[in-house]
Amino acid sequence: MDFRFTEEQLMIQDVARRIAQEKIAPSAEHFDRSGEFPLENIRTLGESGLMGIEVPAEYGGAGMDPISYVLAMIEVATADAAHSTIMSVNNSLFCNGILTNGNEEQKQKYVRAIAEGREIGAFALTEPQSGSDATAMRCRAVRQADGSYVVNGKKSWITSGPVAKYIVLFAQTDPDKGSRGITAFLVDTAKPGFHRGKTEPKLGIRASATCEIEFQDYVVAPEEVLGEEGQGFRIAMSVLDAGRIGIASQAIGIARAAYEATLAYVKERKAFGQPIGAFQMTQAKIADMKCKLDAALLLTLRAAWLKGQGQRFTTEASVAKLTASEAAMWIAHQAVQIHAGMGYSKEMPIERYFRDAKITEIYEGTSEIQRLVIARNETGLR
Ligand code: CAA
Ligand code: FAD
Repeated sequence: MDFRFTEEQLMIQDVARRIAQEKIAPSAEHFDRSGEFPLENIRTLGESGLMGIEVPAEYGGAGMDPISYVLAMIEVATADAAHSTIMSVNNSLFCNGILTNGNEEQKQKYVRAIAEGREIGAFALTEPQSGSDATAMRCRAVRQADGSYVVNGKKSWITSGPVAKYIVLFAQTDPDKGSRGITAFLVDTAKPGFHRGKTEPKLGIRASATCEIEFQDYVVAPEEVLGEEGQGFRIAMSVLDAGRIGIASQAIGIARAAYEATLAYVKERKAFGQPIGAFQMTQAKIADMKCKLDAALLLTLRAAWLKGQGQRFTTEASVAKLTASEAAMWIAHQAVQIHAGMGYSKEMPIERYFRDAKITEIYEGTSEIQRLVIARNETGLR
């Protein structure tokens, strides 16, 4: 057991912190209010290797380990959660999905531009009628005699859907086989038959653009199949294991921002002739915030460490995501309460942390789904 980070891990944390504090934090309020996509900031992150942290240098990435990814995500999410959503989809859902399941040509063709932040990637699993119950998807890919597939159907809530160049898509190829009848495909959004819906207005992470996408007789060439036919659901689930480490890190960043702001405020703000931080009721809240934040961080680092060791980390990723997202929501809630009127005002970022924290309990598997994954794996029952 060694709690020290390596030189490389500290270096990437430093790079992420510098960009986060110098470029992202000063523009976070603007992007939250306008809902604009922060393309220039994403390019800056990409130029420093932060859009493909675990991607080997030969495919355009930084070639770092999962712990480096956690540290960098926390820094970016501390400055702005929406930027870290875009970063997490590029890193853990798009690049990781192709690196672990793609062939050499696919890695060369699809990963480099996304890892370098020149293009944006997306991951399309959810549909209007199927979110948690992902196998109930209806998007259909029908195999043709020449080995190509024709895709028809809708996907909803697709992060970066409005701007993505490439998308990892999951569709039914054999509906009678349930989860074993799902296949993963690589979609080029410039090809005919691909359509984007309107960008969704959202409570939080407003600069992360989300939309419905639709396929109408969209043709996928044989070389655009990711993995084997029928392996798509297993690919989606294993990619989401890694993704959940990213969302846990995002939650920690949001929680840290809310906690640090609160720690400063309780020393400054006075009531009844003393700093509000001197009241025992406030002190108990600070202590609980600190415990939840540290627990979330250690559990997330454990999941990332297991991933780096090449071990199975499904349960640990769900434990980390569940703990960190519920910690973020609780800490942001307490931060608003302690800032009181100022916590409710748009003059401070506290209300943004509160709005942004909520999504971490919903996407990449709701808290109920994380509990389901953990308990199924622990009990062997379902
Ligand atoms: N790794 C590899 N394979 C896995 C796996 C994992 N972690 N989990 C399940 N599988 C395999 C199983 O072994 C099984 O394979 P076989 O049939 O070959 O035995 C197959 O997948 C089906 O597994 P289940 O029977 O457990 O499937 P289920 O229908 O009961 O669903 C679930 C399980 C955990 C509820 C799953 O549907 C799930 O995770 N739902 C949540 C969906 C989700 O997280 N969506 C996120 C969308 S992306 C997103 O949100 C991005 C963003 O916000 C930015
Ligand atoms: P439902 O599945 O309809 O769930 C409704 C409620 O029922 C929830 O509380 C849920 O926990 C509960 N529930 C469902 N099943 C069970 C059960 N078995 N036991 C107990 N409770 C249960 N998806 C993508 O594919 N790609 C993306 O990039 C993406 N980005 C997103 C970005 C945003 C901003 C949002 C809001 C969503 C995004 N999603 C994306 C979709 C997201 O993953 C789903 O919203 C999420 O998985 C939940 O699905 P749902 O909204 O359909 O809720």
